[in-house]
Amino acid sequence: MKIQKVTEETRAKVYALLRAAFPGSAYEADLVQRLHENGRSLHEWVCLHTNKAIAYLAFSPAYHGKEICGLHLAPMAVAPDFQRQGVGSEILRFALRQEPIRSRPLFVLGEVAYYKRFGFEPCPLPICPFDKNNSHFLSLRNENSDSFIVGYEPEFKTAAKSPGPPGKKRR
Ligand SMILES: CC(C)(COP(=O)(O)OP(=O)(O)OC[C@H]1O[C@@H](n2cnc3c(N)ncnc32)[C@H](O)[C@@H]1OP(=O)(O)O)[C@@H](O)C(=O)NCCC(=O)NCCS
Repeated sequence: MKIQKVTEETRAKVYALLRAAFPGSAYEADLVQRLHENGRSLHEWVCLHTNKAIAYLAFSPAYHGKEICGLHLAPMAVAPDFQRQGVGSEILRFALRQEPIRSRPLFVLGEVAYYKRFGFEPCPLPICPFDKNNSHFLSLRNENSDSFIVGYEPEFKTAAKSPGPPGKKRR
């Protein structure tokens, strides 16, 4: 499996993958496209197979006020034909070994049982603005004990109309 950093040439393949992996929701593809267009700082990888993107994930800054306090994992997706074959685990384990991912506090809003496999734990603080009880909010390497609402890049609120940010209650 070939995992590589996303380039301008592979961006369109990533949007196609996100549309396929989240049927009925334009939120994820629009989100990533806007993050790209607005030049946000992302750490993102794609897995290509027969010239198509079959897996993708991105990390973007998490904020405490104006300070960066970690990275949000969002979105993450595997093409429908390749799901449940270990591809998602492989790209995530790969990303978790890379700098700066391997040394920063990480946050993810998603299926608790899935992300626990990779070392994430339920996150009591900070508070996720998209998940009031933090019931699907997890973190890794997060030692924060202050009560604050963790910030996301503004595109997370503005990308398309959608029931919510990527990952929540989708699996
Ligand atoms: C969620 C997703 C990224 C997981 O990637 P994947 O390649 O399918 O997952 P893996 O094959 O690595 O799965 C590892 C384990 O997670 C569980 N799992 C994976 N997909 C699952 C699914 N759709 N439903 C239930 N459990 C699932 C399985 O228990 C699997 O373990 P197993 O080896 O015992 O079967 C992928 O299914 C996907 O893109 N789904 C649609 C978009 C989405 O929901 N993204 C998540 C954002 S949080």
